[in-house]
Amino acid sequence: VIGAGLAGLATAWRAAQRGLRVLVVDRDGPGAGASSVAAGMLAPVTEADFGEDELLRLNLESAALWPGFAAELEERTGMATGYARCGALAVAVDRDDAEEYARMHELQRSLGLAARRLVPSEARRMEPGLAPRIAAAIEAPEEAQADPVAVVAALARAYEDAGGELALADVKALRGGERVTGVETNIGAIGAGAVVLAAGAWSAALDPGVRVRPVKGQLLHLRVRAGGAPIASRIVRTPRCYVVPRADGRVVIGATSEERGFDTRIDAGAVHRLLEAAWEVLPDVWELEFAGALAGLRPGTPDNRPLIGAAARDGLFYATGHYRNGVLLAPVTAELVVAALTGERVSA
Ligand code: GLY
Repeated sequence: VIGAGLAGLATAWRAAQRGLRVLVVDRDGPGAGASSVAAGMLAPVTEADFGEDELLRLNLESAALWPGFAAELEERTGMATGYARCGALAVAVDRDDAEEYARMHELQRSLGLAARRLVPSEARRMEPGLAPRIAAAIEAPEEAQADPVAVVAALARAYEDAGGELALADVKALRGGERVTGVETNIGAIGAGAVVLAAGAWSAALDPGVRVRPVKGQLLHLRVRAGGAPIASRIVRTPRCYVVPRADGRVVIGATSEERGFDTRIDAGAVHRLLEAAWEVLPDVWELEFAGALAGLRPGTPDNRPLIGAAARDGLFYATGHYRNGVLLAPVTAELVVAALTGERVSA
């Protein structure tokens, strides 16, 4: 498995549980790419978009797997995952937002998704920290979150406990011709009966057939001060940002979406815009302690759909291209890739 991010580790864990002999190879170790930067929203309903029905179905399938996936990880490792079905509010701050969210709600209704329109007073009763003059809101009660850093750590432990191995090495190329037979790395060649490409935004460098590009996301980390009240109990989003409050008082504000190649610098302007966008919907953000800013690279694909399952070349399998849904899609990716590896299902 090339890549020790959420997709690679989840797949490797499930494969090791099935009795396959698995080696994960990563240049920098578990969660060094986008996995540890992601906010961890498990939000298929409020991230649903027009013309993406197939992606939505996969997102919902994975959302349904998350409670069992998190519970099993926690039980096997004794480690937390931060999984919580906290729900989400999509908040229209002004009339333009309200128009946009009215269209979004029509889509959600037409797809039979769990989403309910609220008038401002109802939304403020649910989340008293909302700004006094919001225009409307949509509640999506089944949206959830997980802490991706905690999930990576738990997955790495569970994978190791299942007999899996990890090598710190930089994969330079796939080995073989029509049939992939392993990888070339900076510490030598590694042979394998099957190779899973789970290298996130770096996947195209190893297989030019994979049209994955980096889409930069900058996020802010804040903290409720000791003794301070939670900023919100649900994920709160507007068209310009999302705010993910964790149970322990940490708060993540995301995210930019930029086509900048492999640049992961933090821009002062992005910090400013994200803070302002969060403040206009949750003014108490101003009182939070600023803990830092991070940037990660989403693996974007031309149609926003992930690449999961058997590739055209024998011996090669994909677990990449998850774009905005990498944390959400980890459980279903693992199921589908392991089913393809064991010849049970070839779905991609
Ligand atoms: N799913 C949130 C993001 O990609 O920013």
